[in-house]
Amino acid sequence: MKILFIGDVVGSPGRHMIQEYVKRLKKQYKPTLTIINGENAAAGKGITEKIYKSFLDAGAQAVTLGNHAWANRDIFEFIDEAKWLVRPANYPEGTPGTGMVYVQINQIEVAVINLMGRTFLPANDCPFRKADELIAEAEKRTPYIFVDFHAEATSEKIAMGWYLDGRVTAVVGTHTHVQTADERVLPKGTAYITDVGMTGPYDGILGVEREPVLHKFLTNLPARFEVASGGEQLSGVVVDVNPKTGQAASIKRLQINEDHPYMDL
Ligand SMILES: [Fe+2]
Ligand SMILES: [Fe+2]
Repeated sequence: MKILFIGDVVGSPGRHMIQEYVKRLKKQYKPTLTIINGENAAAGKGITEKIYKSFLDAGAQAVTLGNHAWANRDIFEFIDEAKWLVRPANYPEGTPGTGMVYVQINQIEVAVINLMGRTFLPANDCPFRKADELIAEAEKRTPYIFVDFHAEATSEKIAMGWYLDGRVTAVVGTHTHVQTADERVLPKGTAYITDVGMTGPYDGILGVEREPVLHKFLTNLPARFEVASGGEQLSGVVVDVNPKTGQAASIKRLQINEDHPYMDL
């Protein structure tokens, strides 16, 4: 059993890559489950109902979010009806939406959890304790638990990987938009990567136009960021899962770059 996960989709270049490649990737890897992180899908920040539905149409069964979950106000209109949309679980009690969904595919049920780090990100409930709570609930139903840990600091993400080793199928990092080369299966069977990387324009700075970012670094004045154009890439991972135990057998990085031949890492 395989799980395909695609990292932060940024604006229309990222959405274009989803339309262009998800069906092809599904044909190649035949994942049982496909998950897309869509926190930057609408003009670089947030997600709309239309985009959420387009990801499901493209072949995803769940869409995860992150710190930009609320950036497009549309979210408040549809999050409670969007059954396969997962926002960070460690927001305070009473926050709209849910931090864990159970996706049913044939006879298999997979718990998909989204958590957000607290280092260099807004204060939130403890993601480690929230993970304990959700895993205790999910493991009563299924051995397949997939965690998208949306966090900035490599240390916090690696800590989460080790904390959950042997208790979940995979911990994949999102948010930094830069793919890390540290994918591995941890000793007790949890697939781990610090960051899957983004799906969007790679000639910008983390997906946005270079000029305003440079202006901000050079002047310390606020700047308005727009999604960059120029170059498109898709970043993802494929996790191979032992169907008997729910443990990961392997994790493979994917990076497709339209300006280069197919890069199959
Ligand atoms: Fe992001
Ligand atoms: Fe983020």
